[in-house]
Amino acid sequence: MSKADFYQTLNAQVSAIIAGETDSIANMANISALLFDALDEVNWVGFYRRFDEELVLGPFQGKVACIRIPLGTGVCGTAAKTGEVQRIADVHQFSGHIACDAASNAEIVLPVRKEGEVVAVLDIDSTRFERFDADDQSGLEALVKTFESSLV
Ligand code: SME
Repeated sequence: MSKADFYQTLNAQVSAIIAGETDSIANMANISALLFDALDEVNWVGFYRRFDEELVLGPFQGKVACIRIPLGTGVCGTAAKTGEVQRIADVHQFSGHIACDAASNAEIVLPVRKEGEVVAVLDIDSTRFERFDADDQSGLEALVKTFESSLV
């Protein structure tokens, strides 16, 4: 199965599990569980929610993580502040990276928007360097769009 097909199927599953549900915490919890199960070589999947100048830990799967991250700090805080996806091949080379799980070597963080504002980020960590390529990024961007469409 190509990555594009894989993400298309995953996206359909996301649509199905959030269909008709407007509680974003519940949806973030199920999306985290789905991605943690479906993605290879992933050791942490979850959301941080934005409250003004800070991110606060939301639903996730994986080891205990840091709770509060200032906007602009670490990979998550950078994604939230710039509004741009952070796709990091080697987190040890990212200045300010916050090591929640020492096993993490690569990371992708995608901003989640509501009415144009970043309201959360989706954070995925891997133990494998260069785990996330451009196809993973576009697949996950589509998936985030599906989740964004459920935000009311
Ligand atoms: N590594 C992230 C912190 C969150 S954990 O990976 C779960 C960062 O640098 O923002």
